[in-house]
Amino acid sequence: MKKVFVSGAAGFIGFHLCMQLKKANHFVIGLDNFNPYYDVSLKNLRANILKQNNIEVIKADINDKKVLEKIIKDNSITHFVHLAAQAGVRFCFENPEVYVNSNLVGFVNVLEVLKNFKDIKLVFASSSSVYGLNDKIPFSVNDKTDLPSNLYGATKKANEAIAYSYHHIYKIPMIGLRYFTVYGPYGRPDMAYFKFTKNILEEKQIEIYNEGNMQRDFTYIDDIIAGTISAMDSAKDFKIFNLGNNSPINLLDFIDIIEKKLNKKAIKKFKPFQKGEMLATYADIEESKKELSFNPTTNIEDGMEKFIDWYHTFHSYTTNNK
Ligand SMILES: NC(=O)c1ccc[n+]([C@@H]2O[C@H](COP(=O)([O-])OP(=O)(O)OC[C@H]3O[C@@H](n4cnc5c(N)ncnc54)[C@H](O)[C@@H]3O)[C@@H](O)[C@H]2O)c1
Repeated sequence: MKKVFVSGAAGFIGFHLCMQLKKANHFVIGLDNFNPYYDVSLKNLRANILKQNNIEVIKADINDKKVLEKIIKDNSITHFVHLAAQAGVRFCFENPEVYVNSNLVGFVNVLEVLKNFKDIKLVFASSSSVYGLNDKIPFSVNDKTDLPSNLYGATKKANEAIAYSYHHIYKIPMIGLRYFTVYGPYGRPDMAYFKFTKNILEEKQIEIYNEGNMQRDFTYIDDIIAGTISAMDSAKDFKIFNLGNNSPINLLDFIDIIEKKLNKKAIKKFKPFQKGEMLATYADIEESKKELSFNPTTNIEDGMEKFIDWYHTFHSYTTNNK
């Protein structure tokens, strides 16, 4: 049995990971600061479901060394999955400090704690954002990632370099996972697929950048969780992997899929290309297939259907609990 500490457990990916690990009979404990970047009631809802499944989510910040150490010692943790971070690209223009505080200072804090527990295997979340202005597709883990197009991507790139230095010196076994646009039930309200669904249903405008000339490699949450759990098993040395669907879709085709599923037309507002965005994301997953047996199986139509089904129940839950 693994004893797993998940940071960012009340978040989208953390919640699903905790549920899946518990199903496989592992011990799981989470930590989250429940920050208000998006609707905290969704974080509370996820944490309540975890609680019903006997998974505790401690409310604390990853910058609190004492809390991290206590959780590790009290529970004889064997694996640490570090997901807590400030995500999102646009928010870094308004609030850069929080990215520095959580993704850089907090990240180093986690490593500073883990250097004293060298047997703990670490898996940490990186992002497709590290590829930034890379125009060679698909993105391979062997490509250069020196041109992040925004601060978020730069912090994730920094995470990989900082993690390597701690691995080099303290021999912490670790794997960094570059996640590609993860979507699914209990997903993040700040992400385009969530906003598009919500606004189309509410007959509000949706904003489409660069005339829709963008591609995203949407990756369904269950596939991401399978890849993450597999990485936990294989963390021995230091490795970085892409976890993406390897099947990018054009934004306008994506909107088309949502319209069909909802049986409703979007009110589209076209806007210019936004600085900091990436034109396309597309994961080369050959190494992840080979070494993590990563094999994404959910196509965008099926995945969005599952998201939309969940969205309807979530919407009636929030309406009834107002
Ligand atoms: N969802 C995606 O498409 C995607 C893509 C690439 C990378 N990632 C990365 O995966 C990880 C999880 O993403 P997610 O989509 O679940 O995001 P999320 O925002 O839903 O989850 C992150 C959680 O971390 C918590 N948190 C943030 N700062 C914290 C701090 N200082 N101390 C304690 N808790 C803190 C937040 O409250 C949140 O619940 C993040 O590191 C993110 O950057 C996500």
